[in-house]
Amino acid sequence: MGCVTAACLAWLGHRVVGVDRDEYKVRAVNAGESPFHEPGLPEMLQQVHEAGRLSATTEMGQALAGASVVLVCVGTPSEPDGRLNVDQLRRVSAEIAAAVESHEAPLVVAVRSTTFPGTCEEVVLESLGGAGKAAVVANPEFLREGAAVRDFLEPSLLVVGGSDPKAVRTVASLYSALNVEPTLTTLRAAELIKHACNAFHAVKIGFANEMGTLARAMGIDAGEVMETLKKDDRLNASGAYLRPGFAFGGACLPKDLRAIGFGAEMLGLRLPLLESVLPSNSAHLARAIEQVQALPGRRLGVYGLAFKEDTDDLRESPAVAMLERLAASGREFRVYAPHVRMESIFGANLSFLLGALPEIRTQMAGSLGELVEWADQIVLTQPPGASDAAEIAASRKPLCELYRMRSH
Ligand SMILES: NC(=O)c1ccc[n+]([C@@H]2O[C@H](COP(=O)([O-])OP(=O)(O)OC[C@H]3O[C@@H](n4cnc5c(N)ncnc54)[C@H](O)[C@@H]3O)[C@@H](O)[C@H]2O)c1
Repeated sequence: MGCVTAACLAWLGHRVVGVDRDEYKVRAVNAGESPFHEPGLPEMLQQVHEAGRLSATTEMGQALAGASVVLVCVGTPSEPDGRLNVDQLRRVSAEIAAAVESHEAPLVVAVRSTTFPGTCEEVVLESLGGAGKAAVVANPEFLREGAAVRDFLEPSLLVVGGSDPKAVRTVASLYSALNVEPTLTTLRAAELIKHACNAFHAVKIGFANEMGTLARAMGIDAGEVMETLKKDDRLNASGAYLRPGFAFGGACLPKDLRAIGFGAEMLGLRLPLLESVLPSNSAHLARAIEQVQALPGRRLGVYGLAFKEDTDDLRESPAVAMLERLAASGREFRVYAPHVRMESIFGANLSFLLGALPEIRTQMAGSLGELVEWADQIVLTQPPGASDAAEIAASRKPLCELYRMRSH
């Protein structure tokens, strides 16, 4: 990652000195050659070497003399217990700290290595002796080996995090020749965004492989299933559902996931990722209930009873499950549910509701105004419509917005 970063930044016109303790890599770069196989890298290294914009050294002090930004790209391999080993990061930070002693201008240290949230503060900033002569910025890299040069030059994401706005801007400006809008954020968020991206990629691969396994076991063309799934770029291959919020429920998702679990079991298949989705959802609901139980208000005004907004479908609604638990623990609450009218629900909807909340008729508020007036704490399980949102905001009552995991 360091070599690709160095070559690409030099190619963009920056003057770059690469530092590595590995003499072989340093020699290769100084000869204008690539120290490893990566498409497009040898040509680029040769060009920037000939243009005199990239050299390499094993000496940190030599590299930092006159530098305004140092980009840290050392390895952060796994420890046996899963944590990232930060020895290389600690050591290189100490070396930078020593070199920066004699530095005239303030140095910006951009951490491009993948670091778990808190590492930039606890390891890099700490080793540098706090925010003295150097500002620390997290600038994770998203390139893929095998397509590294193209990914660097055509990035889909540029993330720069830090608390020093000038340092953040300096790092973002290194990439100003690229066609990408920088996302400026905090140190810790930048670190987590990198992990979120890698976890998302891994989950997608796991999902495709488990679905493919299920398809193949049933004699169905796995590729066709996934190609068809991808054709829906509104709900499937899209940002839909990617919003941290409340648990899912309703008449379809839980039921159909259970059917997949049953079908897989009948076929003797183990599909741990798909099997874990309902337990994950239950754990998420349990966390939400704990959060609501811990609210200081005595009278909870709960907004939303259906399994999501804009429906009156109550089947497997996580809001109903939550209220069932609150009722069992003797918590005082009232509910306002837009679209749910007790007189017009019947059948499976009604029996599910009365089975969980036999007292619901007396717990329903007649209007949002009544709920807001009565409650000393509002809990929203779903996003309110514009006029409801305005009425709730005007009440100035404390809000717990489960649908976006925020309390204020
Ligand atoms: N490989 C990728 O595709 C990729 C993509 C995005 C992010 N990352 C992240 O980037 C980081 C680096 O990954 P990599 O695959 O390039 O690792 P790597 O192990 O191939 O390279 C790390 C380099 O750092 C050098 N180094 C370590 N300590 C040093 C020191 N004190 N002084 C000088 N040089 C030192 C090592 O000699 C080595 O050449 C990791 O955090 C990784 O997770 C990697």
